[in-house]
Amino acid sequence: MNGVAVITGAGRPTGIGFATAKALAADGWPVLLSDLELEDAVLEGLPTGADSATFVADVTDSAQVEALADFAVERWGGIGAWVNNAGALLGAGPIADVGDEDWQRCQAINAGGCFHGCRAAVRRMQAEGSQRGGRIVNVSSQAGKTGPPHFAAYAAAKFAVIGLTQSVAAEVGRSGITVNAVCPGTVDTPLLDEPGGVWETMAAARGISVERARERAPRAAPIGRMVEPREVASMIAYLCSDAAAAISGAAINITGGDEVH
Ligand SMILES: NC(=O)c1ccc[n+]([C@@H]2O[C@H](COP(=O)([O-])OP(=O)(O)OC[C@H]3O[C@@H](n4cnc5c(N)ncnc54)[C@H](O)[C@@H]3O)[C@@H](O)[C@H]2O)c1
Repeated sequence: MNGVAVITGAGRPTGIGFATAKALAADGWPVLLSDLELEDAVLEGLPTGADSATFVADVTDSAQVEALADFAVERWGGIGAWVNNAGALLGAGPIADVGDEDWQRCQAINAGGCFHGCRAAVRRMQAEGSQRGGRIVNVSSQAGKTGPPHFAAYAAAKFAVIGLTQSVAAEVGRSGITVNAVCPGTVDTPLLDEPGGVWETMAAARGISVERARERAPRAAPIGRMVEPREVASMIAYLCSDAAAAISGAAINITGGDEVH
């Protein structure tokens, strides 16, 4: 596959996005890391010699996402892979308490950001004269397969990501572009610990302490532990590889067996 791999939400060294950039760089991809805020220093954590750059973009703003795609094409001549990883947990808690603004922002980041990214990537991958094809991977969630209590806004947005994935995959397959989603379970990243984040929400939904929620969650999965960012990253890198040319429209669980459909 020619061109660069663009990864959104890749600015936090402990997150899934940065782990994905590392995995793709290790596979030989040039990588363009994007996030709301990120410093070039983050690139030092990539494999030695990786061809890489950073670009600040808010995925809720389509003009910024188009600028990210333009930068990728100007610098590398084309986009080979695009990973819509940026996401945020908002509007967690009982449905009766979810505010309009949190609902809308949750859809705008998780579903809207994915839409902007898919559209920007397809526009370049299908550009006149382009025979490249391409790979698009959208980061959904286990909550995009089964809606857990107190995650209504987030689950709705992550379900939307899977619908978007299926529709775009069905549309662009003849252009040599595959589009897939990954659905991670509980992955040990900063997203879990934030105020109003996964641990606080799970604890409130089950009427237990945050500490108890933290202890219980890893044991809920058949593998008896949380998923690691690098395990999600290696699936994304596989989906971006030539070997995965026949996989499209899929929504692949990486949940340690906790989600099975
Ligand atoms: N950690 C989990 O348990 C888990 C489980 C399932 C799915 N996910 C999904 O995985 C993806 C990565 O999350 P993570 O767990 O690595 O957490 P993370 O917080 O480390 O990564 C999310 C990244 O998205 C960025 N981001 C947020 N809003 C943005 C915006 N408007 N524009 C651009 N970037 C924005 C953040 O700055 C951050 O770097 C997210 O889509 C998340 O919903 C995480």
